[in-house]
Amino acid sequence: MNKTINSPQCRDCICEFNRLEEARFWARIMQEHALFIKLGLPAEEHELREEAEDFILIFKELRARLDRVSRLEGDLLRDLIEAVKEFIEFKAKLLRILIQCKAPPGSNYPLLLDHIRREAMHFLELLKMPVPKDPLSTLLREEVFWIRQMKEHIEFMIHLLDPSERELLEVLQETKKTFSRLLETARDLESMDETRPRHFNTVIRFTENVISNTMALRDLKATAFELAKLCELLSIVSTPLLLDHIRREADKFLDEMQLLLPEVIRCNSTLKEDNFNDFMKKCF
Ligand SMILES: [Fe+2]
Ligand SMILES: [Fe+2]
Repeated sequence: MNKTINSPQCRDCICEFNRLEEARFWARIMQEHALFIKLGLPAEEHELREEAEDFILIFKELRARLDRVSRLEGDLLRDLIEAVKEFIEFKAKLLRILIQCKAPPGSNYPLLLDHIRREAMHFLELLKMPVPKDPLSTLLREEVFWIRQMKEHIEFMIHLLDPSERELLEVLQETKKTFSRLLETARDLESMDETRPRHFNTVIRFTENVISNTMALRDLKATAFELAKLCELLSIVSTPLLLDHIRREADKFLDEMQLLLPEVIRCNSTLKEDNFNDFMKKCF
């Protein structure tokens, strides 16, 4: 029998993210954002560089605490929420400075600051643990968030590579077109989902396409990271870690899709889970 969104089993089939694992993932991301900001600030901006350095230390310490616990609660959770809120404000302050031309820009793009500010807000939302929605709307919300981030990663790579890296730039331009289209479609599907259809099989087909394209992008980022480490890539990337960072974010997106898609197939489609299993076997 096909389970619908109204069946008790499906109301409970929300994929519970493991909050501790999530916090460990995102705290590392936050620490690295602070490093990227610091490396991108002009040398004479001593105070801002110090502030960035403080955030590196704050998140380093929080990560050590996260490694020692088996549950995310109490003081640690409160400290984490506080640190993320302050970091969001720091990123917003830097972005305002650039928007208002109040300081020399260094090499932190305004869109990069907005991008990492959005990632911090995403983390904060997760820490505050909003009431989970049904799998379909959760999947679409995550897709809209992550596809936008993936598209911007490509844009940053394009702007950080040396103009002589023509072949790689061409591949990235094509990939950017694909992700722009995917983003537009994800937003359309999320809007259509507001009508609360009982099943929405097109989302499954779309998500499988998103997974395939994200895997290719993930591999491209991994290759770029390896090349940068071996000093075989001409770019103004401040540290190869940035390429590994965006590769990890692609893997995080894939992990979430791998977790959510079977739930959506089960609860919000007329398809059989076997279809998905076959697809996953082909992919992973
Ligand atoms: Fe990031
Ligand atoms: Fe990112």
